[in-house]
Amino acid sequence: MLRGGHYVLANEVEAFEREFASYCESGHAAGVGSGLDALRLALEALGVGAGDEVIVPAHTFIATWLAVTQLGARPVPVEPEEGGFNIDPLRVEAAVTPRTAAVVVVHLYGMPVDWDPIAAIARRHGLALVEDAAQAHGARYQGRRVGSLGDIAAFSFYPSKNLGASGDGGAVVSRSESLIESVRELRNYGSARKYHHDRLGLNSRLDELQAALLRVKLAHLDAWNDRRRGRAEQYTTALDGHPVVTPPAIPAGVESVWHQFVLRCADRELLQQGLARRGVETLIHYPIPPHRSGAYAGEQWPPLPLTERLANEVLSLPIGPHLDDAGAEEVLVALQDAITSSRQ
Ligand SMILES: Cc1ncc(COP(=O)(O)O)c(C=O)c1O
Repeated sequence: MLRGGHYVLANEVEAFEREFASYCESGHAAGVGSGLDALRLALEALGVGAGDEVIVPAHTFIATWLAVTQLGARPVPVEPEEGGFNIDPLRVEAAVTPRTAAVVVVHLYGMPVDWDPIAAIARRHGLALVEDAAQAHGARYQGRRVGSLGDIAAFSFYPSKNLGASGDGGAVVSRSESLIESVRELRNYGSARKYHHDRLGLNSRLDELQAALLRVKLAHLDAWNDRRRGRAEQYTTALDGHPVVTPPAIPAGVESVWHQFVLRCADRELLQQGLARRGVETLIHYPIPPHRSGAYAGEQWPPLPLTERLANEVLSLPIGPHLDDAGAEEVLVALQDAITSSRQ
């Protein structure tokens, strides 16, 4: 690829777009510069703009909200479902107003959202449905791949994602060719034809080098997701009915790709420190919800107690295709140990 001398929007990107759209069991894909840009361009292609409201999960990575805000629209947060991490379909309809233009759902931690009830609400109110699939490449809902469920979907290829590039990257996927054509125009200075600029676009293109690397890695994605699934099953079995930590619930009909394995623990800090002392590094996704972030300070938000509770209780155990049996065993032993000693 380097010797060929074509570094931007050439054969590798085109081939990857075809292969990734097909992997998602959808029609078309456009490679862009990041997951954030993928979300922003997906919303822009749908026509979301100033004055619109967009329903978003309150418990998510802030990029979901930033994409909405960048277009001059307002994120309208909805709490997660009781006992889970994804947006609560039962609360979505109450958030719809005459200004609502779209709903963005996030398949958080690799677990598909409860799609059918949300799709029914969107149909009833004529709303566009956007999937933020940044953490869920390959996951399935009732047998259907994420990325093929909504009107349009956004993926991130940030290096730590299930399908990660060696730098930033993202993609927009849709069955609609015209939406993807619109994203292609917007990612390239608003130009569909060289030096004809009909829209106020960005420069946000997946580059050829990243596309070439992603094509190689895409062939391994299902096997890597299987390894994550096996590990998650092992953790879930070991922690089932545990008195101190709550492993994630797995709803019927969904196939998570376990981007993260997230526990809940009332005394999270103590547990995290105990694990760190035993050599197990854990992360928190995410300690500060978007509405509590500096970027959104000074704005009025409804009370979001479930979201704030999650921010205080979630803890992500190590997971990934790299983690071998011995490593996972060490995590489980350290977890038991840390809990036992914290109770003495
Ligand atoms: C849920 C979610 N949405 C959007 C993004 C944004 O992706 P990127 O980091 O590629 O901009 C991320 C990841 O970082 C994410 O986890």
